[in-house]
Amino acid sequence: MMETAPAAPRPKINWLDIVWLLFLLGLAVLPPVHEYHKQLTLVAIGIVQLMERRMVAKWPTRGRNYAVLLKILLATMLINHTGDELSINSSYYPIYYLPVVTAAMYYGPWATILWTALASACYSSYLYPALQEYDLTAESAELLALRILFFFMAAMIVNRFAVENRRQTKRYQELAEQLADTNRQLQRAQAEARRSERLAALGQMSAGLAHEIRNPLGVIKGSAEMLQQKLQDSNPLAQELAGYISSEVNRLSALVTRFLTFARPLHAEPTLQAIEPLLDHALQSVAGQWRGGTVIVQKEYEKDLPLLPLDENLFEQAFVNLIQNAYEAMGEQGGTLRLQTTRVEQNGRSGVRVRLQDTGPGIPAEQREQIFNPFFTSKPTGVGLGLSIVSKIIDEHGGVIRVESNGGPGASFVVFFPQVTHRAELDHASISSPNT
Ligand SMILES: Nc1ncnc2c1ncn2[C@@H]1O[C@H](COP(=O)(O)OP(=O)(O)OP(=O)(O)O)[C@@H](O)[C@H]1O
Ligand SMILES: [Mg+2]
Repeated sequence: MMETAPAAPRPKINWLDIVWLLFLLGLAVLPPVHEYHKQLTLVAIGIVQLMERRMVAKWPTRGRNYAVLLKILLATMLINHTGDELSINSSYYPIYYLPVVTAAMYYGPWATILWTALASACYSSYLYPALQEYDLTAESAELLALRILFFFMAAMIVNRFAVENRRQTKRYQELAEQLADTNRQLQRAQAEARRSERLAALGQMSAGLAHEIRNPLGVIKGSAEMLQQKLQDSNPLAQELAGYISSEVNRLSALVTRFLTFARPLHAEPTLQAIEPLLDHALQSVAGQWRGGTVIVQKEYEKDLPLLPLDENLFEQAFVNLIQNAYEAMGEQGGTLRLQTTRVEQNGRSGVRVRLQDTGPGIPAEQREQIFNPFFTSKPTGVGLGLSIVSKIIDEHGGVIRVESNGGPGASFVVFFPQVTHRAELDHASISSPNT
């Protein structure tokens, strides 16, 4: 079943078409008036002209050939019915401008010349019957040549405009596409900037809070331990309660430490590093503690990757978080974790792209931006700080992280690390410039 295009408006009445038809009508009422073949031909010309746009829209290449060919044919018929005695003398010969100009609008210069030559040949073919009865005088030969030359001139002038017009249109289209592309990039950059701002603001707040919580926690913990010692065996219930206080305080203070890592301004100290050993190390430390299903790790490291300016500890921290998430997503069932590294150019910067792909349940599209927010978690015991720390660390390296939907199940995180960060450039500049 054919689907109808939803929003294509019906072509409205084109006033220029009406004016055109009026001109045709003008031809119809000029002599020879009672030549009904002439009137029929004019009607046919009008129909072809009106149908042309639809024809070309339907069959872009064939439609043009048909339009020009039909017009040449009809023009030739019109000449046949309008010459007094000899068709070649018909005053309607300018009707050939119709196919000639049409061809000039649709085709390149050479094809236009060929079509014009065909039109001229059709016109000149009336020479044959004329020569049966009369001789060709020099004067009439000149006249014929003149008319034909004008066909070519008209064709060439229109063609030049048409070609130039097409070139411009193409350029505007390309420009528009470029603009749309730049817009998309800008939007993505804005989203990333917003994310960084959000993190920075939240970071400051939680740093203050965490700091304030830490001190009383220390006092509580100390007191609980002291109580436990003091009570010894005299009051087992109180001792048990003091034990709870102590262990819960431990949990709280682990949380506060995680907060502070997230909140504290990071001080990356990048040095040039090979990326593979760092990735392997992060993999090992997650796998070593893993208590869930079997996870198969597929490493696809590209050979001869460049060294990157990385802070060893922060980099590992980031990838431990990412890999931990992947393991947790695959959970008791286990699965496959693919780790790829590729050398890439991104937005004019060269660097390395790391792709982490697991076979867990994946991330729903509407959560793809939220998961980087602090405290966004879907896990019963999660804090939701892992990815915001990752995001901060990667920012600090001048890199970019994003989630890709790979169509199938599983999540895919793509991280780009540039070979040169602004920070590294600055450091370099301050080292090399004297007196600073
Ligand atoms: N590989 C993954 N597959 C599916 N969902 C994921 C994956 N990684 C992250 N997520 C989703 O993003 C959320 C946020 O992750 P994030 O690491 O920030 O916090 P968390 O793992 O829940 O807690 P924690 O602070 O302990 O890391 C997760 O709760 C989970 O819903
Ligand atoms: Mg996590």
